[in-house]
Amino acid sequence: MSMLIVVTILCSNGLSISVSADQHDIQSSFTRNRSIRQSTNFSEYIWDNAVDLLAEAWETTFISGVRNGNLDPYFYGDYVLQDAIYCRIVAQLWTQLANNASVEEEIREYANGSIRGFQVCSVDLFDMFNVKDDRGNSYGVLVKQPVQDYTSFINATMTENAHNTLIATYACLKLWNNLTNELWKIVEANTSNPYRIWVEDNFGSGSSARRQADQMDKWDQDGKLYDWSEGLSLFRCAMKNEINFFNHAGNSSAVLNCEEDISSSIT
Ligand SMILES: *[C@@H]1O[C@H](CO)[C@@H](O)[C@H](O)[C@H]1NC(C)=O
Ligand SMILES: *[C@@H]1O[C@H](CO)[C@@H](O)[C@H](O)[C@H]1NC(C)=O
Ligand SMILES: *[C@@H]1O[C@H](CO)[C@@H](O)[C@H](O)[C@H]1NC(C)=O
Ligand SMILES: *[C@@H]1O[C@H](CO)[C@@H](O)[C@H](O)[C@H]1NC(C)=O
Ligand SMILES: *[C@@H]1O[C@H](CO)[C@@H](O)[C@H](O)[C@H]1NC(C)=O
Ligand SMILES: *[C@@H]1O[C@H](CO)[C@@H](O)[C@H](O)[C@H]1NC(C)=O
Ligand SMILES: *[C@@H]1O[C@H](CO)[C@@H](O)[C@H](O)[C@H]1NC(C)=O
Ligand SMILES: *[C@@H]1O[C@H](CO)[C@@H](O)[C@H](O)[C@H]1NC(C)=O
Repeated sequence: MSMLIVVTILCSNGLSISVSADQHDIQSSFTRNRSIRQSTNFSEYIWDNAVDLLAEAWETTFISGVRNGNLDPYFYGDYVLQDAIYCRIVAQLWTQLANNASVEEEIREYANGSIRGFQVCSVDLFDMFNVKDDRGNSYGVLVKQPVQDYTSFINATMTENAHNTLIATYACLKLWNNLTNELWKIVEANTSNPYRIWVEDNFGSGSSARRQADQMDKWDQDGKLYDWSEGLSLFRCAMKNEINFFNHAGNSSAVLNCEEDISSSIT
């Protein structure tokens, strides 16, 4: 028996592209399969089944531009400012969760511990660009669509199920760490790449991603099991939001939609 599965990603302009994602779909249809649960864990499962999107992220305007050293500097500035706003809103979202009395204590504790990293990211970038931050809702910079979409998705996910906040924000931590470390391997030796300094500033040990993976896996093992299939969909949606964000710094019209049209046929 062989299984043929085609995933159609709907694009905002009405066009659709098809990618083959056999591994992802075959595995996600086995989410309640004990042997898969025993050979991996939740954090690895969602990442391993999103590597097709990792490849796509690698080719975005921002990441490929940094890699090749030919990113339009205006796009770079635009990206960096939007990234600061993203960090700022995610810090607010973690604060909103940490302060929510109807959310379980252990989630609120984790949320509290996540606020600071995102605050630092926004404050550092705002300082660098002299952006006034009144700590209210006025940033002095327009929030563009990819950041609005991405943070609304995190907010909606968080409100519906607080545990899932960690899934919706894991793409940022994990993908970022993977991409910046891969970029560093390429640009380290090339001092004529103008974005080398940006990569050097941004690649890190991945401790935040690991902390978050450990927490998700701990909850999953404690019997508060994530629904692996739903979890994978949420994670893939977050990855697509990352890709849209990396592409917005440019004039790419490619926008990935989270609604996947999964058609499968068994032959
Ligand atoms: C569970 O997954 C394993 C490994 O992919 C596979 O060999 C097995 O047939 C699956 N079992 C069921 C009941 O789907
Ligand atoms: C080094 O960077 C420059 C400028 O970005 C680029 O044109 C060149 O191809 C790179 N060299 C190598 C060996 O990658
Ligand atoms: C999250 O969504 C709620 C409901 O729409 C809204 O009131 C709140 O301000 C949002 N939080 C942030 C940090 O944007
Ligand atoms: C929240 O985290 C800060 C450190 O970032 C800590 O000082 C504070 O005690 C924590 N608050 C709660 C309620 O856990
Ligand atoms: C607080 O959490 C509850 C339960 O998860 C949710 O329904 C509510 O919208 C949250 N409130 C805020 C302000 O986020
Ligand atoms: C990035 O992720 C891919 C796929 O899991 C992996 O093969 C690669 O080693 C990772 N790179 C880094 C620097 O973590
Ligand atoms: C489970 O996840 C952790 C990260 O939390 C990872 O380091 C570890 O290798 C994984 N273990 C297995 C058995 O997959
Ligand atoms: C998109 O940007 C590229 C690089 O800056 C430029 O060459 C191209 O003409 C632009 N296309 C459109 C439709 O604006």
